[in-house]
Amino acid sequence: MDNIKIPKHLAIIMDGNGRWAKKRLLPRAMGHSAGAKNVETICEAAWNMGIKYLTVYAFSTENWKRSEDEVSTLMKLLKQYMDGCIEKSRKNNMRVRVIGDISKLSPEMQASIRRLEDYSKDFDGLQFTVALNYGGRDEIIRSVKKMAEKVKAGEIEADEITEEMLSEGLDTWELPDPDLLVRTSGELRISNFMLWQLAYTEFYFTDVYWPDFDEEELRKAVDYYGNRDRRYGGRNS
Ligand code: IPE
Ligand code: IPE
Ligand code: MG
Repeated sequence: MDNIKIPKHLAIIMDGNGRWAKKRLLPRAMGHSAGAKNVETICEAAWNMGIKYLTVYAFSTENWKRSEDEVSTLMKLLKQYMDGCIEKSRKNNMRVRVIGDISKLSPEMQASIRRLEDYSKDFDGLQFTVALNYGGRDEIIRSVKKMAEKVKAGEIEADEITEEMLSEGLDTWELPDPDLLVRTSGELRISNFMLWQLAYTEFYFTDVYWPDFDEEELRKAVDYYGNRDRRYGGRNS
């Protein structure tokens, strides 16, 4: 099927690292490192399929509630990932952005993020976004606060607030809304991911755990999207 419709922006809730490890009688941390390794595989596969934007949910505003031990393991892994991503961005001509409230992350992590974003800013291959300390509600609140400040300063009237203004205040202001959302590991919820941006997105859920979600699984999700759009292409009919 080579005329299948490809999503321009794919968003992924990478879930199931813990259960992947448990099934193999391994510590959860091993699941997280297997999950982190899988990200590059999917970045390359997505780009080869013709996907231009990929956004992945790596750490939510709610994930701080996990044990101190797991949070510190995840932060260490994410820092290593950000540092290693410089080389990957060069190799794949990939621009990397981070969304979420990074002001709550360690100064070292913030420095790694800035370095990576700055290093990759002119690469025009895959537009890859990592959601880190990201929550959809938190992101909307931060945008609303920016608008409230403008009202307070007399720059706009409350009445003049539009959907576009709210969108422009979100961390995703440079990105199109996702066309397809994938969640791995069998959970059927959004868990506070891109609440505003997913308004018209198609959803694909799979029982496969994130570390096992390979190119073949990605192809199934993309095929599902192509078929759905053909069957329910209301916008074109
Ligand atoms: C996803 O895997 C990774 C993060 C949320 C950081 P989980 O750690 O949620 O794995 P499960 O859901 O416990 O299997
Ligand atoms: C969502 O997964 C967050 C990320 C993938 C980063 P969780 O495993 O944290 O979500 P819940 O707790 O099952 O809703
Ligand atoms: Mg989970």
